[in-house]
Amino acid sequence: MSTQKISTQALHAGHDTAQTSGTRAVPIYQSSSYVFNDTEHAANLFSLKELGFIYTRLNNPTNDILQQRLAAIEGGVGAVVFASGTSAISTGLLTLLKAGDHIVASSSLYGGTFTLLNVTLPRLGITTTFVDASNPENFKEAVQENTRAFFVESLGNPKLDVLDLEAIAVHSKAAGVPFIVDNTVASPALLNPIKHGANLVIHSLTKYIGGQGNSLGGAIIDAGTFDWTNGKFPEFTEPSAGYHGLVYSETLGAAAFTFKLILEGLRDFGGALSPFNAFQIIQGLETLPIRIKQHSKNALKLAQWLESREEVAWVNYPGLESSKYNTLAKKYLSKGQSGLVTFGLKGGFEAAKKVTDATQLFSLLANIGDTKSLIIHPASTTHQQLTDEQQESSGVSKDLIRLSVGLEDIEDLKQDLQEAFKEIKTLVH
Ligand SMILES: Cc1ncc(COP(=O)(O)O)c(C=O)c1O
Repeated sequence: MSTQKISTQALHAGHDTAQTSGTRAVPIYQSSSYVFNDTEHAANLFSLKELGFIYTRLNNPTNDILQQRLAAIEGGVGAVVFASGTSAISTGLLTLLKAGDHIVASSSLYGGTFTLLNVTLPRLGITTTFVDASNPENFKEAVQENTRAFFVESLGNPKLDVLDLEAIAVHSKAAGVPFIVDNTVASPALLNPIKHGANLVIHSLTKYIGGQGNSLGGAIIDAGTFDWTNGKFPEFTEPSAGYHGLVYSETLGAAAFTFKLILEGLRDFGGALSPFNAFQIIQGLETLPIRIKQHSKNALKLAQWLESREEVAWVNYPGLESSKYNTLAKKYLSKGQSGLVTFGLKGGFEAAKKVTDATQLFSLLANIGDTKSLIIHPASTTHQQLTDEQQESSGVSKDLIRLSVGLEDIEDLKQDLQEAFKEIKTLVH
């Protein structure tokens, strides 16, 4: 394991310049396939006697550098990249689970993930019990004989609840199931879930890691710590019908899941990341450690300013002393609490829509983690497909506005909101 710090790893990990003709920048290998030396070489690659590139749906030299870099900064034994965060989540779950299996998940999830677990996976016989993650005991109580995974977001989008990962990890360990943590909002520069007991870490690379709002991508980082031989995962301990009798846990040890994701997950579901996007995401990753500090600083200042405004009914940011997640934030997010802030206006739903429509610097769109500031009204957009009750448990009240605070000057951001608040003067009083 490297002793280098994240700022160094974000720039260098996984890139041996001698392997890329001395290029200082990571090159884009825009090739779908790779020439074999001869048929024996090809056969060896397919049977894993030799490791190498076969076809870009499975791996690619640019993607591979990104994978090694992500594994290094999250502290895993391997990482696999995908076409989007959603592709990472769906491919990860479909590689791990089968019909009849069950997930225990936090009810506070990104809307798309909630719907995948709540509607789409049940069609395939994979069910989920959603629990209030603020009490880790709820995970223990929801465990069934067929439970095969715990799934949470370390910092929920948009509830911004900081989870007590270590307390939840105790219950996943006792249940003998992998603890999967979506670490997208916190980013690896603020929190490393593996250090707190996560077995698999997920990222939407589209957000803070890419950071510029230009490329979709996703990743799964494998801690290599889960015991696949505990009797609950025969797909890892018995010869795989899907890969000519390979016994994953025996042949690949700690990297068993990483390889299953490539050999079966990417092969069968095909959600490969374009090498061009991998290149763009690498450019973003290189500056993640300094960017996320500034996102966090701006978000805290803006949250404090919002708290002082008469138009504002409530503000939620884990870095605020007033936040009910502040104690957990001090433990898990001591370097910064990332760039998302949510707030409600005294004028409720109507006021939320008016302000969202009136901002100029904050762009109204469905994304987070861009260098530019973003604004959205989740109840009518990202979480629209949820029932009122589901919206409530995922922390989406009708009046909630979500800000993704960018890197602009804080005074300009305040000014933009102040101007937008003029639109709701009549609704406040
Ligand atoms: C926490 C979280 N996880 C996963 C995703 C899905 O990522 P993508 O949009 O890259 O598919 C999102 C998207 O907003 C997200 O916020």
